[in-house]
Amino acid sequence: MKFEKVAVVGAGEMGHGIAEVFALAGLPVSLIDVKQDILDRAKSRIADSLKHMASRGRIKPEQVDQVLSRISTYTSIEEGARGVDLAIEAVPERIDVKSQVLKALEAVLSPDAVIGTNTSSILISELSQFLSRKDRFLGTHFFNPPVVMKLVEVVKGPETSDATVDAVMELMKSIGKVPVRVKDSVGFIVNRIEGPELLYFCLLVDRGLAKPSEVDAFFRSQGLPMGPYELMDYVGLDVVQELLKYYAAKLSKDYGKCRTIGDLVSKGYLGMKAGRGFYEWE
Ligand code: CAA
Repeated sequence: MKFEKVAVVGAGEMGHGIAEVFALAGLPVSLIDVKQDILDRAKSRIADSLKHMASRGRIKPEQVDQVLSRISTYTSIEEGARGVDLAIEAVPERIDVKSQVLKALEAVLSPDAVIGTNTSSILISELSQFLSRKDRFLGTHFFNPPVVMKLVEVVKGPETSDATVDAVMELMKSIGKVPVRVKDSVGFIVNRIEGPELLYFCLLVDRGLAKPSEVDAFFRSQGLPMGPYELMDYVGLDVVQELLKYYAAKLSKDYGKCRTIGDLVSKGYLGMKAGRGFYEWE
């Protein structure tokens, strides 16, 4: 299996960063989303990130334009995903949205192509029901920001072939990531561990036991770059909410008990990307 051209569907928080990672590794990337203005914003965020890396000497100045020129943008899967060897979906964590994208990808990709999902917690077995070529479908879970975070969870679904998993593990290593092969279980490894913490931190605020800033100050004092509430704002409270909903359905109703995150999301306070979440951001 050779991966010479990649498509990323969804140019949001994760998708734009995943596209950047592959383009930095020298691969041509099709970045696909529903509207051109989302794609333009994604490209400008990638440009800012590359310029910052150049200013820190992490890449050469001429690489900024070279990397950007490897990323083409499309508003249709049919056009953008044609001829790619690997397509990764990074659309919102909703099964209805993901199922549409997966079906559209399978309809246009060659039978040899691999489809990855960047889902952070939905079971691969649940998503693979929308595909016929299940042996070439797996989880490719990056962490935010993809260009900085090395870890990638590579998730083998019940019908994913070993050859697909091995090839994607090799690909991830070749682009400088640290892939970890994980089982198909709710939340995989990282978010399965983080789920109870997210619930706990939300309940702490629900019950007025502590303020986000107080808890975050403690975690920062331990040397972490962000406290838990800053991290939730960074990841997106809509993403955290979907994760808690999924856990409430799959693991325990207790995950549905937290109020604050739902209240913030209903007001549009989705975290850093919205300028407000637990905190106000510039
Ligand atoms: N592009 C390029 N470089 C970036 C960048 C970007 N988008 N974001 C951060 N960096 C670089 C910075 O340039 C800096 O490198 P230099 O020292 O060479 O300049 C380095 O990362 C550190 O950044 P900052 O100094 O600006 O700020 P920081 O020290 O707070 O780091 C951070 C930012 C890397 C995001 C850090 O706060 C961090 O690691 N936070 C935790 C991130 C984390 O845990 N992510 C996982 C979230 S869970 C998830 O994503 C999955 C899920 O399923 C929901």
